[in-house]
Amino acid sequence: MAGQNNNAPVGVFDSGLGGLTVAREIMRQLPSENIVYFGDTARVPYGSKSKDTIVYFSRQIVEFLKTKQVKAIVVACNTASALALEEIKDEVDLPMIGVVKPGAAAAAATTKTGRVGVIGTRATVESGIYTEVLKEIDPSISVIGKACPLFVPMVEEGMTEHPVMMEMIDYYLRFLKKSDVDSLVLGCTHYPLLRSQIADYLGSRITLVNPAYETARGLKKLLEENNLLNRQKEQAAANLYVSDLPERFKAFANSILPIDIDRVKTVNVEQY
Ligand code: DGL
Repeated sequence: MAGQNNNAPVGVFDSGLGGLTVAREIMRQLPSENIVYFGDTARVPYGSKSKDTIVYFSRQIVEFLKTKQVKAIVVACNTASALALEEIKDEVDLPMIGVVKPGAAAAAATTKTGRVGVIGTRATVESGIYTEVLKEIDPSISVIGKACPLFVPMVEEGMTEHPVMMEMIDYYLRFLKKSDVDSLVLGCTHYPLLRSQIADYLGSRITLVNPAYETARGLKKLLEENNLLNRQKEQAAANLYVSDLPERFKAFANSILPIDIDRVKTVNVEQY
């Protein structure tokens, strides 16, 4: 990969807006890296779709990102990382990283009891990928997975503080509270936005693991290994694209990213 343009952007994609939590972490840890973000707002959610569909969508997005001359790709979506990354990474002549392996590594480093909880979309949890990767790291770790499909629409609707949200957290996580897990992977892009509510509910005995943080660290390592780190000192740029509803996306992006977003462009990703 030597000789590539170090100033080229990093491509980041998600099924929608949740992946901005990963983009935010990349901006914090790698402030010199330019970012091209794609959120598939027309086709979200991925978490209730089949593997074939998720692979098909992910391939189209990668093709789109390649037209933006990205130097590496971050699959910020847990569902796409779980179901599509392994399928497509050998087809793509670019370094790629997802959120599952970094998240699992962080959980393995965090747990003391060897009992880890994982929450995510139905597709992610049913794929069993977190269990697989955690057991590769340490076969003695046991994993309890729980799909929490209603968390995503609640976050999308901006209802994180609503009393219904607290009821939903109780509904999905009550059994975890009673279990002996000591760390919980927030295995979905949207869940870090519920971090304080989940932490308040579960109490200090259970440590929450946000894969976004480890993914940004993993990206740094990947760029270093490929001699692709951006050495420029000026403020990096972020270009955001979606497949639908750019204005709504822009408002959300401005509420969570550390830089101002003036414009979000719409792209017909079906053409790629
Ligand atoms: N981005 C997805 C994930 O991290 C959540 C939203 C969806 O279901 O598409 O799994």
